[in-house]
Amino acid sequence: METEQMDTECVVQTKAQPPLPCLPHLRVRIPKGFASLSPPVWRASTVLFPNMEALRQYHASDEESWSYGLQSTPTQYELAQKLAQIEGGYHSLLLPSGLAAFSLIQFTFLRHGDGLLIPDSVYFPNRTHAEWLMRDFGIKVQFYDPMNLPALSKLITAKTKLIFIEAPGSITMEVPDIPAITALAQSRGVITAIDNTWSGGLLCRPFDLGVDITMQALTKYQSGGSDVLMGSIVTRELRLHDQLRTRRRHMGWGVSSDDCYFLLRSLPSMAVRIAQHGANAQALANWLNQRKEVVRVLHPALPDCAGHAFWQRDFSGASGLFSVVFNKRYRQTQVDAFIEDLQLFGIGYSWGGAHSLVMHYDVLSQRSIAVWPPTEWHDRDEVGCLVRLYCGLESPAELIADVEQSMSRHLV
Ligand SMILES: Cc1ncc(COP(=O)(O)O)c(C=O)c1O
Repeated sequence: METEQMDTECVVQTKAQPPLPCLPHLRVRIPKGFASLSPPVWRASTVLFPNMEALRQYHASDEESWSYGLQSTPTQYELAQKLAQIEGGYHSLLLPSGLAAFSLIQFTFLRHGDGLLIPDSVYFPNRTHAEWLMRDFGIKVQFYDPMNLPALSKLITAKTKLIFIEAPGSITMEVPDIPAITALAQSRGVITAIDNTWSGGLLCRPFDLGVDITMQALTKYQSGGSDVLMGSIVTRELRLHDQLRTRRRHMGWGVSSDDCYFLLRSLPSMAVRIAQHGANAQALANWLNQRKEVVRVLHPALPDCAGHAFWQRDFSGASGLFSVVFNKRYRQTQVDAFIEDLQLFGIGYSWGGAHSLVMHYDVLSQRSIAVWPPTEWHDRDEVGCLVRLYCGLESPAELIADVEQSMSRHLV
């Protein structure tokens, strides 16, 4: 009796268990025949090689074989190829931001002692980047007036390796004579690169104007959502692309396939979005141009904008970003109040999304050679604060009404 009791208490009941599956190696067979309009997102750090032969055969110069998620995934490849197609280039690289794209171009083509020419109206962080190259890497950086070709020509020396172009210039919106600059550069054996962000790659075709390299902040119109940072570099010449690609690998700069997915999702609507941003900006610019509070509207489609004729010749339209210069009778505090009381324009950097944005700039703090206001302006004495406006996807009537209500309260 005693023994029996002990037996029942001490024996652990074990049932025969099926072996646990090996979790990392679970396999599922996906039924064939699924088709979707959205591209798959291939995320990877590790990329598997099918066998040792494939590993040994892999060569970093072959863009159509896979090695590591940092270099490319099918999702990144798809976006890069589509961007090249849009700009009429043949090769494309993705970078973590527009500024990184600018940086890669500099680090690829410039060595200690080389010369770099940058427009004075360049996007300001590009200016500070170039100044850093000059200070710490011995690159001879010079800023040029984008509207003065003879002066630019004089700056080109045997050491000059790269001329950077931005069209239109940041904040002041002047449009340079792109084909004249590229012809000049070619005649002196200098590479040209352009920041083509304002056009979204759709409104301007820099390769047809002789440019060697285009870069864009995809952060703007390609994203369209104000939530992704990315940049691109597009080339026609394989030689240039290969050099950029090798340097990108050295830098360890890659992008996330998830971010690429967001851009692939936005690309099909980019043309209609830019057309609407452009129409909104044009309507608001025209309206502002009639107002007594305003001295100048800096918008490439307006006849008095510097380089308007080049814009007419080289661009197929205008996008959503322009600047306005108020009369100097309005103090900075009044203009600040005008900005703060706008209901549809958020105060913030960047642009390209659905929401309108506004930003104040002190032009001279961002320039080193420009005379501001420009000497040719007959109304220089009246020039006051400059405000940059980005028109989102609200209606033109709503945007005008918003600007009007805030102007009527603060610019009196
Ligand atoms: C004309 C232009 N280029 C480049 C950039 C840089 O883009 P990101 O913000 O992706 O570095 C910007 C950003 O505002 C820009 O306005």
